[in-house]
Amino acid sequence: MALTVQSLGFTYEVGTSIAAPVLEEISLQVQAGEIVVCVGATGSGKSTLLRLCAGLLKPVGGSVLVDGSPANTKGSVGIVFQNPEAQFFAETVEADVAFGPRNLGIADIEGAVDDALDSVGLDPDIYKPRSPFTLSGGEARRVAIAGVLAMRTPYLLLDEPTAGLDPLGRRAVLRSLVGLSGRVGILVVTHDADEFMPIADRVFALHEGKALFDGKPGAMAERPDVWEKAGLSLPSLVLAQHLARQRGALIPEVALDVEGTARVLSAARVVCS
Ligand SMILES: Nc1ncnc2c1ncn2[C@@H]1O[C@H](COP(=O)(O)OP(=O)(O)O)[C@@H](O)[C@H]1O
Ligand SMILES: [Mg+2]
Repeated sequence: MALTVQSLGFTYEVGTSIAAPVLEEISLQVQAGEIVVCVGATGSGKSTLLRLCAGLLKPVGGSVLVDGSPANTKGSVGIVFQNPEAQFFAETVEADVAFGPRNLGIADIEGAVDDALDSVGLDPDIYKPRSPFTLSGGEARRVAIAGVLAMRTPYLLLDEPTAGLDPLGRRAVLRSLVGLSGRVGILVVTHDADEFMPIADRVFALHEGKALFDGKPGAMAERPDVWEKAGLSLPSLVLAQHLARQRGALIPEVALDVEGTARVLSAARVVCS
């Protein structure tokens, strides 16, 4: 079971003078229940890739298969666009989150809404009657994610899901995604690797529409050349460990999160040259 992107190619405005390939020969896989993080600079093709994975755009070459069938948003893939709270329309959180499952004809809409709100760490009894327009940034973002989760699709695509949030809101969204791992296959696209590397099962790096790297986050942390080529900064924790190495610290394996980094740095012996 997987969302499989095979030799995908895409061009906007095919057949016009401004047509230029935006994605070329992209292959990647999101296994059921895992979190894949796609990083790339602005304009590298991340949002286009997500739209193709959701079946909202048609590939010019290659294919996207979701558990063996063509991708579509009716039941197999849910997509959370950038700044999704801009699309709230209902008077209550309950009505907003219920919209998707009702449209899909899901039988137990109330159960789907409750489960989805629970999954993003929002108590249904407290939040269902609230107006979506009165929520904090982090709450609103999580309600928007719940609106897609309520459709119970096995794969969830998220475009820059923490953009524009304060640190509390960012942490709450990250916690929600970690809580979903194992149940939903997640593909996150972001230009901000710092916060998503620690929760990724795999990382995929995109540069000008081409694949630069596909592998474990720990392996990408050992490849400053890939980050540089992608036009991205190394995550600051990773950079700190590379600098410590340059000063003689013996660090066999770079850590990705704060606690791991503290452990690695405090355990590192320093070799004096
Ligand atoms: N609707 C569109 N029509 C023409 N070109 C587009 C359109 N959307 C995006 N592009 C171009 O495709 C490239 C990739 O864009 P996008 O997928 O939005 O990248 P990212 O999400 O990584 O910033 C950019 O050069 C962008 O200008
Ligand atoms: Mg984008």
